[in-house]
Amino acid sequence: MAVPSSGAGKPLAGALGRGYSRRVPDALFAHHRLAPIYDAFGGARDDLTAYLDIADELGARRVLDIGCGTGCLAILLADRGRTVIGVDPAEASLEVAKAKDRTGRITWVHGDATTVGRAKRREAVLPALGADLALMTGNVAQVFLTDDEWTRTLQGIHAALRSRGYFVFETRRPERRGWEDWVAETAPVTLDVPGIGLVEELSFEVTEVSLPFVSFRYTYRFASDGAVVTSDSTLRFRDRDEVEASLLASGYRVLDVRDAPDRPGREFVFVAERTP
Ligand SMILES: C[S@@+](CC[C@H](N)C(=O)[O-])C[C@H]1O[C@@H](n2cnc3c(N)ncnc32)[C@H](O)[C@@H]1O
Repeated sequence: MAVPSSGAGKPLAGALGRGYSRRVPDALFAHHRLAPIYDAFGGARDDLTAYLDIADELGARRVLDIGCGTGCLAILLADRGRTVIGVDPAEASLEVAKAKDRTGRITWVHGDATTVGRAKRREAVLPALGADLALMTGNVAQVFLTDDEWTRTLQGIHAALRSRGYFVFETRRPERRGWEDWVAETAPVTLDVPGIGLVEELSFEVTEVSLPFVSFRYTYRFASDGAVVTSDSTLRFRDRDEVEASLLASGYRVLDVRDAPDRPGREFVFVAERTP
């Protein structure tokens, strides 16, 4: 059985481990052996349906997918006729995403929200971005470990949105203490990944809980050459008040805070609007 998707249970996201600051994305997304197996181990992405529905509900035509990873959501949005810009700092994940976008419908940007904001101001990389909607799925919001990183991300997205554009994202509820279930929810798994061969998820362990930070480690073995690759991650758990206050301070109005339909009681889904 494939491990749960990033949305369903234990995380497929993270950081650099101790020190609680991040300069590059985790190996899980940035390593040339691990990015191509992300989708296989992520399993069915039932978590994305709610975001497609939200894009419909908000009437969004131009959509920015921040932390798009291997492009699962971006592809689905483009399939539904939307103009999509996918942004991610992990080049290896972007390569996987681009390979799925055979007709080149999507604009892929190697960077982060601050890259997009700058691009808009300079009218260089992405002229007149003016997105109707920015999305962050797969709990991307938790990869920003410091207040500064989070604030710069909120500001970058603000700059990329049109006036009264929407920003919708999820983050795990800290009071649910999901990390206490992650190990129990993990069964050893070996998958036959097309083009790669048998890959075994050797272990998943929560390595440190030092709230609001939770660190964990994945280890994979590739049958083709016996290579063992490890990825260390840290996520930050912010409570509802903290997220709401940060949105307000960065020029957003919180319109709604919802449940993720596929993960009842586990997530906050924030629906915010850029104030003009
Ligand atoms: C769990 S994955 C989710 C990917 C995708 N949104 C999905 O739902 O499949 C987290 C993603 O966040 C990206 N990420 C890490 N640091 C980031 C940053 N500073 N800005 C934007 N994305 C970042 C990672 O490279 C990775 O692709």
